Amino acid sequence: MRPSVILLALFFAAPVLAAQPDLLVADFEGPDYGDWKVTGDAFGPKPAHGTLPNQMQVSGFEGRGLVNSYYQGDRTTGTLTSPPFKIERPYLNFLLGGGMHPGKTCINLLVDGQPARTATGPNDKPGGTERLDWHSWDVGEMIGKSAVIEIVDQATGGWGHINIDHIVQSDRRSGVVETIRDLAIDRDYLSFCFAPGQGGRTQIRLQVDGKPVRQAVGQGRPQPSRLSWDVSQLKGQRAQLRIAELPAADGSCPLGESVTLADQPQGVLIVVDKLYQETYRPQFHFTPAKNWTNDPNGLVYYAGQYHLFFQHNPTGINWGNMTWGHAVSPDLVHWRQLDHAIHPDNLGTIFSGSAVVDHDNTAGFQTGNEKPIVCIYTSAGKPFTQSLAYSNDGGRTWTKYERNPVLKHVVASNRDPKVIWHEPTKKWIMALFLDQNDYALFGSPNLKEWTRLCDVPLPGSGECPDFFPIAVDGDPQQVKWLFWGANGNYRLGAFDGVTFQPETDSIKSLWGGNDYAAQTYSDIPEADGRRIQISWMAGGKYPDMPFNQQLSFPRELTLRTTPEGLRLHMLPVREIESLRGKQHAWTDLKLGPGENPLAALEGELWDVQAEIAVGKKPPAAVAFTVRGEPIRYDVRAATLHCLGRSAPLAPQDGRITLRVLVDRTSIEIFANDGRVTMGSCFLPDPADRTLALSVEGGEAVLPALCLYELKSAWR
Ligand code: FRU
Repeated sequence: MRPSVILLALFFAAPVLAAQPDLLVADFEGPDYGDWKVTGDAFGPKPAHGTLPNQMQVSGFEGRGLVNSYYQGDRTTGTLTSPPFKIERPYLNFLLGGGMHPGKTCINLLVDGQPARTATGPNDKPGGTERLDWHSWDVGEMIGKSAVIEIVDQATGGWGHINIDHIVQSDRRSGVVETIRDLAIDRDYLSFCFAPGQGGRTQIRLQVDGKPVRQAVGQGRPQPSRLSWDVSQLKGQRAQLRIAELPAADGSCPLGESVTLADQPQGVLIVVDKLYQETYRPQFHFTPAKNWTNDPNGLVYYAGQYHLFFQHNPTGINWGNMTWGHAVSPDLVHWRQLDHAIHPDNLGTIFSGSAVVDHDNTAGFQTGNEKPIVCIYTSAGKPFTQSLAYSNDGGRTWTKYERNPVLKHVVASNRDPKVIWHEPTKKWIMALFLDQNDYALFGSPNLKEWTRLCDVPLPGSGECPDFFPIAVDGDPQQVKWLFWGANGNYRLGAFDGVTFQPETDSIKSLWGGNDYAAQTYSDIPEADGRRIQISWMAGGKYPDMPFNQQLSFPRELTLRTTPEGLRLHMLPVREIESLRGKQHAWTDLKLGPGENPLAALEGELWDVQAEIAVGKKPPAAVAFTVRGEPIRYDVRAATLHCLGRSAPLAPQDGRITLRVLVDRTSIEIFANDGRVTMGSCFLPDPADRTLALSVEGGEAVLPALCLYELKSAWR
């Protein structure tokens, strides 16, 4: 059967009307909000004139005045509501900027008292811009009805504000156009096509009974990007298709015009509803079943289980409502998600922190035979303080200490306590981020009363400290203390139980684009003795997925002597071996121009070990290309490149080594036995399962090359 293109083409044919003049709803140029009704304090007493104190520069608005709910920062909330007006033109256009918190930082259109349209700003992460852009609502079918515009700011965290200007009724649309059409689902698949380079403001959403059932955004899409959704379960139902896009120069709407219903999937079938099997779901990196995660928290081993808590938004796909999610694993590879452990309370949301086993019951929390596990976290209220929660049943249920917080506000947004037990002084030591590049150590006999011990500057770093002893070259008699910041810069030094005496400057350890806020496990049994770390692979893109963000694969840290001095090395924990399947191995492999010894292999999940000799007549470069994404060693420059990042990598004894873990949406490289770590997220074309090994400008020899196919940890 032919796809039902015509049906939708009809939907998207724009009505031709004689152009009438625009009708201004509001331009916010007056001395106050006039007859608009203000509640709360986010909108201030009158329209803002551009940028507000401590705000990044606001641009893109018209005239002098605009609505800018950053009044007294992000923490203020409120609403701004227009008087009723009659819809007299097919488009309602306005300038829109600020935070992307649906329902919380938004502009809503109410028609006859019912919600009819809503839009948010474009930002939900650091690094966005305060530019306002045009947005249009197609309100053609509401002409003649009475409407009200409501501008809402109920968000208090990052990007907790909304900016609006110049609301006009018009015959023409401006900027992003939002179209809504009814659709009878009479086929099994719905497909559509994002044009190259379409950003996050280009979106398509399918709703049934007002609830979104599928949605996709243009941002970060691999090419080609004809995508299909399986809608067979919705067959026979009526749905609503909402499309927002920037029309092309010729006025066409490529996304809207590309929609078809068909009996077969076209392009890439996006799996969204088979839990842990979704198209972009990592198969051996931890992700929560649904919604947002960022930092790993409270990494602690107890009674045969590795506990992993994680910064989590239990109700949203983006950052917010910080709560400690919880998962456990017997082997650092297979995870089982448990109930959320620590929920926001009147001291604030629950920001990052750590966990320890209180073997000697120093805090007095123990009630039965199990040793108490104690979590130490930031209560992110006003102001930020540090609190405790404990478990007496091996981590299944959690109680907050009734006299929280245990450490009062010190300075700024002080946060992210990482606690260790210091046996020589029989004290708990807490590393805490203070502000800018400043950290401090605190000491306590019982986890409840803390004294400031010393300050630790860590140039170039902020947030999420870690602090631990580590043996030099595996020799327990020679120990250095390592102080770590969220971006992976660290200092080595000595610690006497009171003062950390740095012996180095900040040393960089992480070279990839997605590796942040790592912490190491507490209470690893002595017989094991490893220092195991997990990080947040910050910033990956997972369009259409029920989850957002992944954590790194656990890695073992060692400190080794190098020609440059002592350096941290990282390698994936050996437990990855339990996922290994078929092995493909070569020795003394000669690689000439145009050759690809991996041409016959295909797949998504790999554990790769390669030794590349850089002999007398070396090639210009050697590249290992995974699903179209090159990991390239530039021999002349002695640098390793992957996904827009590069790292210095000098050959040792005439060769470099690469260990690479490839998951569906990440590539982690550990080069020269872990001396250089590059953790990166990627978004390959799901249809591309290729591998390649190639040389440029010469020949290479690989004394050893071994690829293991990996199995999914979720099956
Ligand atoms: C690091 C961080 C921490 C904070 C947490 C909040 O990514 O900003 O400093 O505790 O995330 O989610």
